[in-house]
Amino acid sequence: MPQKVLLYCDPGIDDSLAIIYALLNPEIELVAIVTSYGNVDQEQATQNVAYLLELADRKDVILIGGAKTPLSGEFTPYYPEIHGEQGLGPIKPPPTIKGELLNFDAIFKVIEEYGEELIIVDVGRATSLAISFNLAGEETMNTVKGFYLMGGAFLTPGNVTAGAEANFYGDPIAASIVLEKAKQGVLYPLNVTNEAIITPEMIDQIMQGENNPFQALVKAIFDYYFEAYQELVPGIEGSPLHDVMTLFAVTTPQAFKYVEKVVTVGLDEGNLRGVSIADFRPKPDEEGNKLTIALEVDYTSFSDDFVKVMSNSLSNQT
Ligand code: RIB
Ligand code: CA
Repeated sequence: MPQKVLLYCDPGIDDSLAIIYALLNPEIELVAIVTSYGNVDQEQATQNVAYLLELADRKDVILIGGAKTPLSGEFTPYYPEIHGEQGLGPIKPPPTIKGELLNFDAIFKVIEEYGEELIIVDVGRATSLAISFNLAGEETMNTVKGFYLMGGAFLTPGNVTAGAEANFYGDPIAASIVLEKAKQGVLYPLNVTNEAIITPEMIDQIMQGENNPFQALVKAIFDYYFEAYQELVPGIEGSPLHDVMTLFAVTTPQAFKYVEKVVTVGLDEGNLRGVSIADFRPKPDEEGNKLTIALEVDYTSFSDDFVKVMSNSLSNQT
């Protein structure tokens, strides 16, 4: 049986590739997607997901409108230089949403329907997931099987400031709420997602067959993203698909090495904003909600799986 997933996201190029990866993966059943601000604004994120679902002809996947700003209400910047003006690199999706956009409470119906069969994956700012906890309460939210969260950086540099990773930096208050309340929470920080390097050669391999309706789009958005990363990290051989790796973990958790720690996030407006902190001393303080943190990954297992899944046809789906 494929693993049922409720996905919170902000597409964005790596989010879009993660959605495509999930749609092409017979081991994942994407039941609903919550779209929020982050890499682009919430309306654009929704438009991008609607476009991907249309390409896949997947009207059954529930589309839910999420947060438009962080919990603080402040404006946070978007990243057109990395993700493109509309979040899909050079691609401009059609301007109207086809299909239905449901209100926030649809999240709770999905959780009620699937309960412990469901994994919640959040690859964006944590705002919508924190609001879900605030509205539904911990007891209801924690009826799901687990939470897979892309965020943080432990004892390693950040990607938006010296110490902070972009998802935690974008809404540190929301990240704190989620880290405090989510039971069975697993974090996929930059320690592992920076390793999710996909190269132009792998994309060429995926392009070889005409197997699915996403191939041309995958190449165009990857090329844009790779160019941006070459500016950011001179000499890099490919670009890290942070959000894809978090979905890969749903089917292949054994590809990672984990530790268990209590995690806090810096809430200050200064250098500590969004910085993730865990106690790595031999005798750590252990008071609080423990999370599982992925710190190492088997790269070959990830890259082989990515090429295989992205070369699938849609008919492999359930
Ligand atoms: O830090 C990586 C995260 O930030 C990813 O979710 C990516 O989409 C970016 O917004
Ligand atoms: Ca993202």
